[in-house]
Amino acid sequence: MSVPEDMDRDGGRHRKMVETHSARFHSRELGIARAPGRVNLIGEHTDYNGLPVFPMAVDRDIAAVFAPRKDRQIILINTDPVFAERSFQIEESIPSYSTGDWGNYCKAAVQGLLDFFRQKRRSVDRFRGFEATFDGNIPSAAGMSSSSALVVLCALIFLAVNDLDLHTTVEGKLELADLLAGAEHYVGTQGGGMDQAISLMGRSGHAVKIDFFPLQIRPAPLPDDYSIVVADSTVKAAKTAEALDKYNRRPIECRLAAAVLKKTLSDRFGREVPVALLGDLNEHRLAVPEGEIWTIADAAFHEHPYHLEEIAAILGQKPEKTAHLYCQRRDGTIFPQPTEGFKLQQRYRHVIDEGRRVEQSVQALETGDIHGFGRLMNRSHESCRDLYEISCQELERLVQISREAGAVGSRLTGAGFGGCTVSLVENNRVESFVEHVIQAFYRHYLKRDDRDFGSLIFPCRAADGASIDRAGIRAEI
Ligand code: GLA
Repeated sequence: MSVPEDMDRDGGRHRKMVETHSARFHSRELGIARAPGRVNLIGEHTDYNGLPVFPMAVDRDIAAVFAPRKDRQIILINTDPVFAERSFQIEESIPSYSTGDWGNYCKAAVQGLLDFFRQKRRSVDRFRGFEATFDGNIPSAAGMSSSSALVVLCALIFLAVNDLDLHTTVEGKLELADLLAGAEHYVGTQGGGMDQAISLMGRSGHAVKIDFFPLQIRPAPLPDDYSIVVADSTVKAAKTAEALDKYNRRPIECRLAAAVLKKTLSDRFGREVPVALLGDLNEHRLAVPEGEIWTIADAAFHEHPYHLEEIAAILGQKPEKTAHLYCQRRDGTIFPQPTEGFKLQQRYRHVIDEGRRVEQSVQALETGDIHGFGRLMNRSHESCRDLYEISCQELERLVQISREAGAVGSRLTGAGFGGCTVSLVENNRVESFVEHVIQAFYRHYLKRDDRDFGSLIFPCRAADGASIDRAGIRAEI
């Protein structure tokens, strides 16, 4: 079969996958697919609050060769032996592997699609499985969304082998992105919809502004004379149970903040206002002038962290009910109350201001105000550090060095607690920028003496979203 050009650009990747596949399976006619990772330029932790983000899909991806099976089994192997073979059956409720297992991302996609088609009253009994061999070059646990790329990729393969064409129109892609955002909660995270949407709908040469509820996308061209450089802090933002709790605490705090605001605004206006998310605070939804909303909302919280009992008292509920409504994990257990309390004011402030920064950034980019865009990136970082508290020492050092090295803007990107930074750098400074960061951060600060730092710091091209070519298996389907 012919191999799409981007599939083989880094030399023999396709061959490696086919060889690994043939050594394990008998399938000869293979489809091929890829789904990119992403780097978020600005708009951190806004998506699950219903506020926009501004990421781009990158030229690093997870690729797979695959073939349909006649039965309902799904078998996954990987060219990287760190990821051991996984195999499971398509069934009504697919039990998960232990937290952090790579197979869970495929299970998440399949379970999400089964639920979706069942809801649409489509018969799922005849769905069949597949065998697939994966190969990835997105740094993992680095905040570049390798996990959502895997979810998207598995969804596309599942659709292809079952001859379903949900992803072939723009509306279909939006629907698929939306359903996969929810589907990924299967792994235990309570994230929003940015990662799946950008992996599916990235556009070469463009960053994409994404709005939520309803999902909408708007690509904005990136300037030719600037580069996006990603640098890995090397602090792993892995999805262990502990990391999940750290991440999930933020959506929980935001839901609690929204509940307090709903109560405060409803009391003030003498009617129930429709606020479920912080992003619902707008004039259009509440039918109240924007200025009035902010006067009330900005004064609604005290700086000191809240205990659950205090929040429950504000809401006029028993603490158990508040915990049940807002603090549940996916498995039904209750998220433990942080000893220092819930930081409602700080999380509220970050989310609302970050949403505004996204709007301003898109405008800055569209009017060619690159330095304005860079300043917004810097402000976003400070807010992520001080109000959302998702930075760490290494990220701080890396951002500081990146700015000294000539970045117009530099910030942590993705979920935080480690992972990567993203920097905006003028093209003719990229080489000296990279050299400076290698010397000051990797060699001097982290005391690393790698021969090649190319997997830790690299410029990224904005790439197209996921693609699938099932030409090789079409005859069989
Ligand atoms: C993770 C989540 C996203 C988003 C980011 C933070 O990547 O999967 O939905 O919340 O963190 O912006």
